[in-house]
Amino acid sequence: MLKAFSTVAVLLAVTLVASAQSAQASFDAATKVFRLDGGRVSYVFGVNEKGELQQLYWGGRLGATDSFPQAQTIPEWASFDSSNTTTPQEYAGWGAGLFVEPALKVSFADGNRDLVLHYESHTVMPHGFDVVLKDIQRGIYVTLHYEMDPESGILARSATIENREAQPLTVEQAAAAAWALPAGAYTLNYLTGRWAGEWNLTQEEVHPGAKVIESRRGSTGHQANPWFALQAGKTDEDHGEVWFGALGWSGSWRITVEKDQLNAVRVTGGYNPFDFGYVLHPGERLETPIFYGGYSSNGLGGASRLLHRYELKRILPRTAATAGQALPKVRPVMYNSWGVTNFNVSEAGQIALAEKAAALGVDRFIVDDGWFGQRKNDHAGLGDWYVNKEKFPHGLKPLIDKVHSLGMDFGLWVEPEMVNPDSDLYRQHPDWVLNFPGRPRSEQRNQLVLNLARPDVRDFVRSFLDKLLTENDINYIKIDYNRNWSEPGWDQLPAAEQKRVYIDFVQNMYAILAELRKKHPNLEIETCSGGGGRVDLGILRYVDEAAISDDDDPFDAQALQDGFSYAYTPQIMTAWEGDSPDGMNVNRTTSMTYRMLTAMQGSLGIGANITKWNDEQTALAKRLIAVYHQLQPTIVEGDLYRLISPRNGSEFSANERVSEDKSQAVVFAFIHSTQNGWGFPLLKLKGLDPAAEYALSSIEGKAREGTPSVASGAWWMNHGLEMDENFRGDFQAAAFRLDKK
Ligand code: DGJ
Repeated sequence: MLKAFSTVAVLLAVTLVASAQSAQASFDAATKVFRLDGGRVSYVFGVNEKGELQQLYWGGRLGATDSFPQAQTIPEWASFDSSNTTTPQEYAGWGAGLFVEPALKVSFADGNRDLVLHYESHTVMPHGFDVVLKDIQRGIYVTLHYEMDPESGILARSATIENREAQPLTVEQAAAAAWALPAGAYTLNYLTGRWAGEWNLTQEEVHPGAKVIESRRGSTGHQANPWFALQAGKTDEDHGEVWFGALGWSGSWRITVEKDQLNAVRVTGGYNPFDFGYVLHPGERLETPIFYGGYSSNGLGGASRLLHRYELKRILPRTAATAGQALPKVRPVMYNSWGVTNFNVSEAGQIALAEKAAALGVDRFIVDDGWFGQRKNDHAGLGDWYVNKEKFPHGLKPLIDKVHSLGMDFGLWVEPEMVNPDSDLYRQHPDWVLNFPGRPRSEQRNQLVLNLARPDVRDFVRSFLDKLLTENDINYIKIDYNRNWSEPGWDQLPAAEQKRVYIDFVQNMYAILAELRKKHPNLEIETCSGGGGRVDLGILRYVDEAAISDDDDPFDAQALQDGFSYAYTPQIMTAWEGDSPDGMNVNRTTSMTYRMLTAMQGSLGIGANITKWNDEQTALAKRLIAVYHQLQPTIVEGDLYRLISPRNGSEFSANERVSEDKSQAVVFAFIHSTQNGWGFPLLKLKGLDPAAEYALSSIEGKAREGTPSVASGAWWMNHGLEMDENFRGDFQAAAFRLDKK
């Protein structure tokens, strides 16, 4: 009888919110346990006996009736590590002897810097919770936001910090979230690089201590990207457990992966605390960025497939034309002349290229740098956003009209946050740049960074972009950003408040992008920062695609694309077919088939001097663009399987894309250089419906003689696809499609 009563009591105490897609958020009042379920993932935390919010579980989805007892702190480790440090808190304040990475560190006006956050209250939200924490004495409140994606099980976490004290306080460190992993041995995966060499997948064992990946540069950066994946034990591309996360912030950021003295592993990420200090006046709030976290039991491949689908369905914006649709529309095939004309753009030159591009089947023609101000090279003109009359005597209209009459839409390059000292804008407003008065102003690429945190600069940027888009029929802007910050002073504000530049700058950029999209609902935007220097889940809420590198050499591009794909969907990955050799540092000669198939793996763009192509080249490009148009949804929205990695100078590479309904697959295969006569490895395909029949056809290249033209998904996955034995040599490429019968 007693047993029956307590079961009923517990059931009554549970608040359950279930969605049609099976995301659940439940709170058990008896045990003070919060549970989130989505996709194949459960995330559980609770209020422990001290009142701290403690993580209890993150991993594969648990049974619906499984329950947890109330959270209990992990005991102290002798007198040196209190339970405050050993207990995995959801969001720990720096205080009471906390030695691991804090989520929040503050200084109060009276000199107190001790902060101990305990559970105060919560609200159940659709697919999640808002949980309020409060300092044990002071009026500082932190609301933790949790939102679980019903389909992927990816959890979006962030925090709002509010000062309800009578005095200001300074936030010195603010994470979006801290993630605790089950005890164990892990390999950390993260992405590192440099200009024209981004997206290197770096893999290393997690050792005791803290590993920091970060940007102190004011923007996301080429050098590291705010994404991580932790593989447990013997995980590989397809098998084993992976916990992964990505931070949605395009300013200075930091992710700390920490293995403590008891081998517990935690990941804490948010604003970079370096040179950070945000003054919260009474009643003010600070929002952190969102830190997205996910779990897969299907290796790194499973993790990236979840992330890709989440980005497509939950992060990327829609235009007016695609509002309400499940996915944003696939990207138009682009032409951009930067690699050919550089700064020497002119109406006649661009029209000649546009005519040729339209004949190839290109959908969008983009004029890159050089069209404005006194922009002859990178020494002058940034900031002066009027059309250069020497290059375009009648403005942009004749070119835009011509591009439209050829059946393409029109895109234009801008670099709104920058200024050349040699510009009218700088001569009028030398105070508008980031600087410390009286100190030198360091130039990079002969430019300075406008202080977009200032309201007057924000208004200038917003209004020149709006004017440009209102006065010209422009469908697309490529927003570039060609240097990082130096001397980040903001002398309009009192000294103690100047560091808010790190936040206000980025928030203003986001607000401008959101406003432009609202006012020009068909506008599409590319994020570029000297290639792949500003790609993250923050900016991706406002843009449709991303430059990944200034290195367009196709062999290099394959490794760049492979690295990019761990964190980001191929839908947004601009990929260029350029001249060979490429005019950059690489000087490699490759065939057009190799270059085209490489560029067809993402959002295809042509950047070569197409006016010099012969008939054969033109016909090949035209045919492949038509094939790309047909297969693009599968290529960029399908599930990506990395079959053979191009990384580390691999002699072969291959990948496969499978449409979500498994009705179509596309396979790409590349040879860097055949060595010692070894043929191309057997490709065991993945992700097909084993019982369905699939017809194989070639896009480029041949399968081995005797390969069936139709076979089951089971055949292609178990027996595999063999390449023709003459598929050998240097820089060879092949591609196939499989269509369900
Ligand atoms: C850097 C970009 O990555 C290039 O694609 C090009 O737009 C140049 N800037 C123009 O200055």
